Amino acid sequence: MKYYLTTPIYYVNAAPHIGHTYTTMAADLIARWKRMLGYEVVLTTGTDEHGQKIERAAKAVGKSPQEYADTISEEFRKQWQTLHLGVDRFKRTSDPSHHKVVQDLFRRCRDSGYVYKSSYTGQYCVSCELYVNDAKPGDPCPDCGRPTETVTEENFFFKLSAFEDRLVELYERDPQFIQPETRRNEVMAFVRQGLSDLSISRTTIKWGIPVPDEDRHVFYVWFDALSTYMSAVDGEGRWPADLHLIGKEIVRFHAIYWPAFLWAAGLEIPKRIFAHGWLLFENDKMSKSRGNIVRATPIQEVMGADALRYFLLREVVFGQDGSFSYDALVGRYNSDLANGLGNLVSRTLSMVHQYRKGVVPAAKGESTAVAEAARTAISAVKSCFENFEFSKGLEAVWAMLSVVDKFIVEQAPWKLVKSADPADQDRLDAALYTAVEAVRVAAVLLSPVLPESCNRIWSQIGMEHLLDGYPVAGLEWGQYPAGHAIGQPSAVFPRIDAKPAVEKMRELEDLETLRQAALVGKKIEPAGMAPGVQPIAETIAIEDFVKVDLRVGQVLEAGNVKGSDKLLLLKVDIGEAKPRTIVAGIAGAYKPEQMLQRKVVIVANLQPRKLRGIESQGMIVAASLEGGSPVLAAFLEDVPVGARLK
Ligand code: MSP
Repeated sequence: MKYYLTTPIYYVNAAPHIGHTYTTMAADLIARWKRMLGYEVVLTTGTDEHGQKIERAAKAVGKSPQEYADTISEEFRKQWQTLHLGVDRFKRTSDPSHHKVVQDLFRRCRDSGYVYKSSYTGQYCVSCELYVNDAKPGDPCPDCGRPTETVTEENFFFKLSAFEDRLVELYERDPQFIQPETRRNEVMAFVRQGLSDLSISRTTIKWGIPVPDEDRHVFYVWFDALSTYMSAVDGEGRWPADLHLIGKEIVRFHAIYWPAFLWAAGLEIPKRIFAHGWLLFENDKMSKSRGNIVRATPIQEVMGADALRYFLLREVVFGQDGSFSYDALVGRYNSDLANGLGNLVSRTLSMVHQYRKGVVPAAKGESTAVAEAARTAISAVKSCFENFEFSKGLEAVWAMLSVVDKFIVEQAPWKLVKSADPADQDRLDAALYTAVEAVRVAAVLLSPVLPESCNRIWSQIGMEHLLDGYPVAGLEWGQYPAGHAIGQPSAVFPRIDAKPAVEKMRELEDLETLRQAALVGKKIEPAGMAPGVQPIAETIAIEDFVKVDLRVGQVLEAGNVKGSDKLLLLKVDIGEAKPRTIVAGIAGAYKPEQMLQRKVVIVANLQPRKLRGIESQGMIVAASLEGGSPVLAAFLEDVPVGARLK
C-alpha cells in the first residue's frame, strides 16, 4: 500500500515562517499516521523559484536569481530538518530534472491540441517590470503605486475553457476531491461561472523554464510549479498523488488548473486536495510590512517543536482559519500538556515505582470505565485523523485522560497502599495497571502529533520497540505486558513560566528577523517607525560594541572653521595630558560660545580624520532625525571628565 502526499512548494521570496510550518507539520502528521496504518508513505515538498519577482529581488541585492534561490531554498530545507519533519523528497523548480517534466507535460498538452499561441494583454507596471493580475487599465501597481500600462505580448495559452463540464462532473462524482466542503462549493461556483483560457508562458521574463522549441518564452508560474508534484517522484511509479495538502488561497490552481493540465496531457489526476485555513498572528494577517511574522525555531528553542505542533493542531480546526499567539501557546501547553498529559504520566510512573518497585502489576478486575474510554478514544482518533479532524481527535484523547484522572482520584492508590486487606492490594494493582495502560494507549494515539514526547513517554513506560510507525490497527486495550518493569521517569512537559518564556521567544524572534534579513543582504526596515527615524542597524555582538570607546569630555575652547558654516573647531579635555582637537559638524545648531565648558560625549578611539585641513581626533555624539539638526548628548547629573560610557 502506497501513499503519496505533498505540501505546496514554497516561494523563495521569503524565508520560512510559521504559516509554511503549519502546512508542513500537518503533512508530517498525516505521513506519520498513514505509516501507522501500514502505508509506505512518501511526503514531498520543495521550493518555487522562478519568475520576475525573484529575478528582481536577486538583482536588488546584487545576486543572480540562482544564487538568491539557493540561499532561501536552503533555509526551507534546513527548517524542515531542524523541526524533524519527515520530508522524503525536496524538489526545487530550478532543478534541471524538473524542467524536463514541465517541458514534457507541455508537449503532451500541445500534441493533444490544448495549447495555442495568442496575444496576451495585461496591466503591466513598467517600473516594477511586473504584470498586475486582475488590474484594469489605469489601476495603480500595488507595489509602487505608479499607474500600470496596458501591454500586449505573444503567449502560449492553455484551453482551460474546454474542461468546464468535466471539472464540474468530477466535483459532483467525487465530493471528497476537494475538501473541506466550503472550498469545494467555492470552486464549483467559480467553474460554473465559466472559465477563460489561461496564459501559460511569458516573453518578458528570463528566469524560468524555456518552452520547448520556443526559446523566447518561459513557462509562467503555475504550469511550472504544479508539475513539481510529478517531478518530485519522477520515475518512482508514485503518480497520481493521494493528497495535495495546501492553504486555502491556492485551491483554485490545484482544483481547476491542475486536473485540466493533466487531463489534457492524458495523465491521471490527484486523488484529493485538502485546503487548510489561514493562520493569523493575534488575529492579524502576518506580513513583512507589519513586522509581525512568527517563525517556528524560536518557539522550538524555548518550548520544543511538539508544543507548537500540539498548539497548531489542537487550537485551530483544520480547514478553518486560526490565530496564533505566544500567550495562547504557553497557556495551552501548561493546561493540556504540563498539567494534563505530563502530570498523568509522572504521577502514574512514580506510583508504580513507589508502590510496586517499578514493576507494573497484572490487573485483576481492571477499570471498565477507563477501558471503555480508551476504546472510544482509539476509534475516534482513527476516524478523525482519517478525515483531517485533528483537533477533534485530540479532544477525544483528552476526554480519555480526564476519565483516567477521575479514576485515579476515586481509587486513591495512596490510601490503598496502606491497607492490609488483600482486596485493596488487588485494587491497587488494577489501578496501577489501568493508569499505565491508558498512558500507553495515549502515547500511541498521540505519537503522530507529539512524536518526540511520545517516544520519551514510551521508553519511560518501559517499551523497547520503536513507537514510530506503530501498527495502529492492532491497538487494543490491555496489551501492556503485566509484570514488565518501567523506565526512569523524567518530566516530559515541565511547566513553563509564561512571562519569561514569551519574552525569550520574542527576543529570539527578533534575532531571527535580523538573521534572515542578513541572509540576502537586505536592509531591514522595521514597520511602525516614525518619519525620519532611520531603521535599526544590523545586530552586532557585545564584543563589537565594547570596541567603541566613548568618553565624557569638556569643551575648553571653541571656534569657527574658516570657510565653513557647518563645522566648529573644538578643544576637548577627555582626561588625557593634552586636550583633543575635534572638528564637529554642529555649527548649524550651536554657536562657539554655547559650547564652552559644556560636557559632551566623544568617540575617543576613532581613526583621526582631516576636515578642512585640520586633523579631527575624535567625534562628538549627537542625536538627529534624518534631515534634522543635531542635538548634543548630555548628562542630567554631573559626570567626571574622562569617564567611559558602556
Ligand atoms: N509557490 C506557491 C505554491 C505552489 S504549489 C504548486 C505558493 N507559495 S507560498 O510560499 O506562498 O506558500 C503558500 C503556502 O504556505 C500556503 O498554501 C500554505 O500552505 C502556507 N502558508 C503560508 N502562509 C500561511 C499562513 N499565514 N497560514 C497558513 N498557511 C500559510 O503559494
